[in-house]
Amino acid sequence: MKKPTVLELKRKKGARLAMLTAYDFPTARLVAEAGVDLILVGDSLGMVVLGYDSTVPVTMDDMVHHTRAARRGAPDAFLIADMPFLSYASPEQALQSAARLMKDARADAVKLEGGAEVVPVVETLVKAGVPVLGHVGLTPQTASALGGYRLQGKDDEGARRIVEGAVALENAGCWGVVLELVPAELAKLVTDRIGIPTIGIGAGAHCDGQVLVFHDVVGLFSGFTPTFVKRYAEAGNAIRDALKRYAEEVRSGTFPGREQSFTINGEVLKRLYGI
Ligand code: KIV
Repeated sequence: MKKPTVLELKRKKGARLAMLTAYDFPTARLVAEAGVDLILVGDSLGMVVLGYDSTVPVTMDDMVHHTRAARRGAPDAFLIADMPFLSYASPEQALQSAARLMKDARADAVKLEGGAEVVPVVETLVKAGVPVLGHVGLTPQTASALGGYRLQGKDDEGARRIVEGAVALENAGCWGVVLELVPAELAKLVTDRIGIPTIGIGAGAHCDGQVLVFHDVVGLFSGFTPTFVKRYAEAGNAIRDALKRYAEEVRSGTFPGREQSFTINGEVLKRLYGI
């Protein structure tokens, strides 16, 4: 699949873009081979790969390390890297962080969380040539300030903040906006209101694209799975069964068999026994 330009992505209203997270070489390769349109090295890796209970502890070094690995797995994919918590507290800091993700780790774009309040940061990045994907609704990095991982934009004030945030991000130069955990009708309103693609997660069917976390989709994460996730495989169960069989076969002496062993020339062996 040919990598889209940012200009092409910006015009993909109604395109039903499929985006998935990937955090390492083999996963990014699988996601790219499956023909998924966009790959996100999300800071959700903090939970599903590093075992933290939130995205807050994820560092810039973590993001660079994982983005590099994902890029090696998907050299031709459009790869977006998350800016971790407190890596874009000022426009200057955001520029430095984005430079690491794009120059060192070869991301094509960065994603950051927040609405109107991050406009100065987005404007600075866009002016410097960094393609930015916005993210409003539930913003996991500041989830505790939002009352936890819960539906956002249910009341007038919350809904207005999300609409205004998405409009502000478009005006600031974002090429798209992730809408996380908002009512489907609100996501539709935002999608109709702005001229750049919306990419929903727990935001219903009216967005211009959808994103999910890889580990949720394939059943690899045994922690909390949100209700908006659809599992397309139970890879965790399949892997556990395979590993149990491996351990049993080692204990019973079935593995390794002849097919997994090497032999030595008989004469060489004879001489060895004669030593
Ligand atoms: O970190 C992440 O994976 C994300 C997506 C869930 C949108 O931000």
